[in-house]
Amino acid sequence: MEFRHLGRSGLKVSEISYGNWLTHGSQVEEDAARQCVQAALDEGVTTFDTADVYAGTKAEEVLGRALKGVRRESLEIFTKVYWPTGPGQNDRGLSRKHITESIHGSLRRLQTDYVDLYQAHRFDHETPLEETLKTFDDLVRQGKVLYVGVSEWTADQIGRALKIADEMGFDRIVSNQPQYSMLWRVIEAEVVPLSRREGVGQIVWSPIAQGVLTGKYLPGQQPPEGSRATDASGSAMIARFMRDDVLTRVQDLKPVAADLGLSMAQLAVAWVLQNPNVSSAIVGASRPEQVRDNVKASGVKLDDDVMKRIDDVLGPVVERDPGRTVSPATRP
Ligand SMILES: NC(=O)c1ccc[n+]([C@@H]2O[C@H](COP(=O)([O-])OP(=O)(O)OC[C@H]3O[C@@H](n4cnc5c(N)ncnc54)[C@H](OP(=O)(O)O)[C@@H]3O)[C@@H](O)[C@H]2O)c1
Repeated sequence: MEFRHLGRSGLKVSEISYGNWLTHGSQVEEDAARQCVQAALDEGVTTFDTADVYAGTKAEEVLGRALKGVRRESLEIFTKVYWPTGPGQNDRGLSRKHITESIHGSLRRLQTDYVDLYQAHRFDHETPLEETLKTFDDLVRQGKVLYVGVSEWTADQIGRALKIADEMGFDRIVSNQPQYSMLWRVIEAEVVPLSRREGVGQIVWSPIAQGVLTGKYLPGQQPPEGSRATDASGSAMIARFMRDDVLTRVQDLKPVAADLGLSMAQLAVAWVLQNPNVSSAIVGASRPEQVRDNVKASGVKLDDDVMKRIDDVLGPVVERDPGRTVSPATRP
């Protein structure tokens, strides 16, 4: 496993991290979840990503139990706040009240005194940015949070937050967590250039497009039994890629991967890691074999010819519109 700095911060993270959205506390049983975490640890993954909202807070509990007994200093544990964790009007968003209550719940469920990175899971249009940033800064001073990041924020939102932090002397955002894969490149036009200038690293999610880039979904056919596309909570999000034009072009990537001696999942993860602004690729897995497959992408270099071949194969099905980075207009 190779390691990278999280943005311009002093923190090092494994360039492949393990995330438990849709799996822990939901799609997979606790035993499979523990096996996936153990496989990640065995393969040198030190960085683990979760969120208060995953599986209605159960995912943090499962991760906390799975990591129990592992030397805390050898781990980087990331979680997030924003999406609803309860029925109340203040059980969501980035107000001082919700952030403060949510971090306490996360620390209890994760069985840790601090998280290494605390991320605003979306932009909250209903809370003054100063209130959110001041609250994050307070958590850093209290030692409950070591670094602060955001997720799916636009370049403009990240830029505004950095300006306020600089003016007010608040801790600066060190990372953004966007969706990024060969099929979804919406950060490249605006978010990445700003982030490179400002020292913000990308921790990218769904680098395998939720399993689509493994090539296991065939055009015109039913998805394989037990795959995410058949899962009640997973099928909605993966739907954007489950089109025959996308699935056909993904099949055409198979010779590219084969020529390099890589699995399709490894090619997909290696592809996002070619972008120097990416600090880590967060992979998900429903089975430990998937973790062992995916982590082998660490350290793989893809030359310009390969990158061009991939672009030629995927052609028009790649999404590049920066306008696709959106947070809800009002709190969910
Ligand atoms: N910030 C955000 O808003 C946000 C949003 C989404 C995710 N995330 C983070 O990013 C993490 C990763 O997202 P993701 O799970 O969508 O990432 P992903 O790595 O693109 O997809 C993971 C899924 O693909 C399938 N898969 C993975 N490796 C495979 C392999 N080698 N062979 C066959 N199938 C394979 C598995 O699903 P099946 O076996 O079920 O098919 C697995 O659960 C999440 O856990 C979370 O931490 C963040």
